Amino acid sequence: RDVAIIGVPLDLGAGRRGVDMGPSAIRYAGLRERIVALGCQVRDLGNISVPLAEQIEPPTPDERLRYLQPIAHAVRDLAQRVRDVVASGALPLMLGGDHSLSIGSVAGVAHNRRIGVIWLDAHGDYNTPETTPSGNIHGMGLAALTGRGHPLLTDVLGQMPAVHPADVALVGVRSLDDGERDALRASGVRVFTMHDIDRRGMASVMEEAILHVSVNTAGFHLSFDLDALDPNEAPGVGTPVLGGMTYREAHLAMELVAASGRLIGLDLVEVNPILDERNTTALLAVEFALSALGKRIY
Ligand code: ARG
Ligand code: MN
Ligand code: MN
Ligand code: MN
Repeated sequence: RDVAIIGVPLDLGAGRRGVDMGPSAIRYAGLRERIVALGCQVRDLGNISVPLAEQIEPPTPDERLRYLQPIAHAVRDLAQRVRDVVASGALPLMLGGDHSLSIGSVAGVAHNRRIGVIWLDAHGDYNTPETTPSGNIHGMGLAALTGRGHPLLTDVLGQMPAVHPADVALVGVRSLDDGERDALRASGVRVFTMHDIDRRGMASVMEEAILHVSVNTAGFHLSFDLDALDPNEAPGVGTPVLGGMTYREAHLAMELVAASGRLIGLDLVEVNPILDERNTTALLAVEFALSALGKRIY
């Protein structure tokens, strides 16, 4: 299998700085060589160019779509590159960067076809400019992909919505804003919270999630926000929330993804080296990517 790596050093969608260094940290953790060792052909396409916060006009304090223009530009650029990678037959692997980048990656993978999405996250990322408590676009990505929000984010490649809410499963959730929860309930997105994982076990939850996003789709994209893990295991994330999944649960989830044979795109996002401990979180991200791509112990 061919894999194409694309870095997105974007932190404009997050409330704090540092995730722009995520792509370097994940590469430094040995990503490319270790995927090659699985027997894949790997091309690293480098980074999408993204402006620094220092280069651009700061948002006003009450801004509901902070840094909309540069983020819209970056996700369009990314979507076009991802679309070309998919056309070449390779699997696109995105390194972030804040989670707003997935507005571009998923739009690229979904171009001209119906796909499923598994969004692994402590958060719903289902805010709109009306419901956001922060104005941070990384909390709006999944909503935008299913057609809710600002047109610059909902219509990236001329397909609106990029994915149907009924083809989306959200897994690992434990932090939702009030308006976001209401919108999710009304949306048709299938939501699996940490409560579901605790009660049913990760295997049962992921099997159902994979089935849900695989009905009548060309395959599914996995958007993995590392804050889905418990911050005790993955401290290097921008918005940590207690009570997350363990290293073993996340590995199991990735192994089930690989076993499905239906993975068509992968994001590893929200790795924040400033808050990390000796690159632990980036190293975990690499291990999860390997499991999702089919690495087996025996
Ligand atoms: N719900 C909060 C917000 O809208 C936090 C979102 C965190 N999102 C993320 N991709 N880490 O600001
Ligand atoms: Mn997220
Ligand atoms: Mn999150
Ligand atoms: Mn469905």
